[in-house]
Amino acid sequence: MTLGGGQAAALAPSPSAAADAPAGGPIGAPIVRLAGVGKRFANGVTALSGLDLTICQGEFVSLLGPSGCGKSTALRILAGLAAPSTGTVEWTRDGNSATSRASHDIGFVFQEPTLMPWAPVFANVWLPLRLKGVSRAAARDAVMDALSLVGLERFVDAYPRELSGGMKMRVSIARALVTQPRILLMDEPFAALDEITRQRLNDDLLSIKARLGTTVVFVTHSVFESTYLSTRIVVMAARPGRILETIDVDAPLPRDQRFRTSVLYNAICEETSRALLAAIATAGDSHL
Ligand SMILES: Nc1ncnc2c1ncn2[C@@H]1O[C@H](COP(=O)(O)OP(=O)(O)OP(=O)(O)O)[C@@H](O)[C@H]1O
Ligand SMILES: [Mg+2]
Repeated sequence: MTLGGGQAAALAPSPSAAADAPAGGPIGAPIVRLAGVGKRFANGVTALSGLDLTICQGEFVSLLGPSGCGKSTALRILAGLAAPSTGTVEWTRDGNSATSRASHDIGFVFQEPTLMPWAPVFANVWLPLRLKGVSRAAARDAVMDALSLVGLERFVDAYPRELSGGMKMRVSIARALVTQPRILLMDEPFAALDEITRQRLNDDLLSIKARLGTTVVFVTHSVFESTYLSTRIVVMAARPGRILETIDVDAPLPRDQRFRTSVLYNAICEETSRALLAAIATAGDSHL
């Protein structure tokens, strides 16, 4: 399903995103900087060590690496869902240091859609606004705009059980977008979907990003997906979780089928594949 074109009453670009860089435009100022971030769990596992990563406005950064290399941990630390054991997470707003992220600055999409099965689509998408005290009536336009962005405005009264896997994930993305986040964090959101649905959602995600100017940090195991979507691929290795290599994807956004079959796409896939194999090879005791 593609975006509804003229039908889609798009959410306006978030004010902060628009101020930093035009939607889909060039890479802007840093939003968040992880410096020397480590994470050691109580069970003794060092999930991350010495992670240095700066995310800039307008970027689409993929974290790619073998199972257990700390991708989800890094995302959870960015989201404020986990605290680093060492190092710092520094947020920046309008060029100035911000003491902490504001909760509305972040949208999080998990691998599972995690919808409330007893509630219709509207209530599921409304949830983040409702938690902020926004009434159903006041939230209506934002909810409908978010649903239009993912092409599901006609399913506003449907229950999750009436939706396909791809549609459920679209609702989950709409829920993450309804607060107009400055940065969207996505943890393997399309891993459970079939190839065609996955490619469609990849295209729609790029369209949404271009339209809203949202910055995206995206966790995936897929070389092909990370190459298609990203402006930058961060390849991580395990034990301890760390960055092994960074690959810039220097192709214009948004992309389409022509990019998927281009020489450039193939060359970047090859380079990314090589880096991923190197990352896997470093993890002697990896639990792959
Ligand atoms: N809450 C926790 N307590 C203890 N160990 C944890 C916890 N969360 C993660 N770990 C460990 O930290 C390491 C990194 O986990 P993480 O989930 O970040 O990896 P990942 O790269 O996302 O893996 P996958 O690709 O399988 O999702 C793993 O060894 C994992 O077992
Ligand atoms: Mg994970």
